[in-house]
Amino acid sequence: MPTSHLVVTRNLPEEILGILRPLGTLDAWESDDTIPRQMLLQKAHLATALLCLVTERIDEELLVHAPQLRIVANVAVGYDNVDVAALTRRGVLLTNTPGVLTETTADLAFALILAGARRLGEGERMVREGKWGPWKPFGFLGRDVHHATLGIIGLGRIGLAVAKRAQGFDMRVLYCNRGRQAEAEDKLGCQRVDLDTLLRESDFVLILTPLNAETRGLISTPQLRLMKPSAYLINAARGPIVDQAALYLALRDGVIAGASLDVTDPEPLPLTDPLLTLDNCFIVPHVGSATIATRIRMATLAAENIAAFLSGHRPPTPVNPEVLMPGGGANC
Ligand code: GLV
Repeated sequence: MPTSHLVVTRNLPEEILGILRPLGTLDAWESDDTIPRQMLLQKAHLATALLCLVTERIDEELLVHAPQLRIVANVAVGYDNVDVAALTRRGVLLTNTPGVLTETTADLAFALILAGARRLGEGERMVREGKWGPWKPFGFLGRDVHHATLGIIGLGRIGLAVAKRAQGFDMRVLYCNRGRQAEAEDKLGCQRVDLDTLLRESDFVLILTPLNAETRGLISTPQLRLMKPSAYLINAARGPIVDQAALYLALRDGVIAGASLDVTDPEPLPLTDPLLTLDNCFIVPHVGSATIATRIRMATLAAENIAAFLSGHRPPTPVNPEVLMPGGGANC
């Protein structure tokens, strides 16, 4: 059996690399910066397995450069950076990291709700800029989160975890999904509605749906106009789900009250982006799953997917399991 060649696209802790090292030759990009595309294409040439991040585009071009590639382990739950159909056509397995980041990402989503409603970014900037004036009874007012209506677009694992947090704030939770989410309805009292109803009735509209052809640009001017002028848009999924130019105008013109974004298009957001001129837009740099424990769990799961696959076992979290051999492992 030929030895495996494993390519890792970022500096990762030894405890992760230690899972991969016994599996074959390890070629790890030892930098905290994104691997340059040409370098990735060059390294892909020998790769049997590739452990990558959302910053890498895994597409037809890369696959052409990677004739030996059998598995791509994406260290993320979302995989819009990967052309899954192209991988499947070539019999290459894709794995992702669902489950291990659910609670951490739900924490961040809830933090975004609170940060927007209570103007935390704006307040912090004021303090640092020496603009903290006398206490005013009607100064710096925000909106209540408790007892408000939360609308979740795309209620999956993370949405469910957010809905649990919302219960503690006595919120009414609406959601919009293709299918019914039984646990959300039966245990948490969430109510399934269509997108327009969700936009009209929610005080906080939280986007958690994956990015795909259907959801790209899902929230644009007509949708923002359906929202209440007092409402907030929160995006903890992927930037391109929101038409950012439309969002800028809606925030500037008071069509909605504010937005909290963990994701933008592009990332990083250039300093010249007009959203950065607005006080009612709170932005953080794609940190949904960014806690020490969760990032370690995600990278470990990605490495374990590769280890299982190369040892002929079914990997824990395949995205396109149809390419697996009947036994579950590598077809090589
Ligand atoms: C992060 O954005 C992820 O999809 O895990």
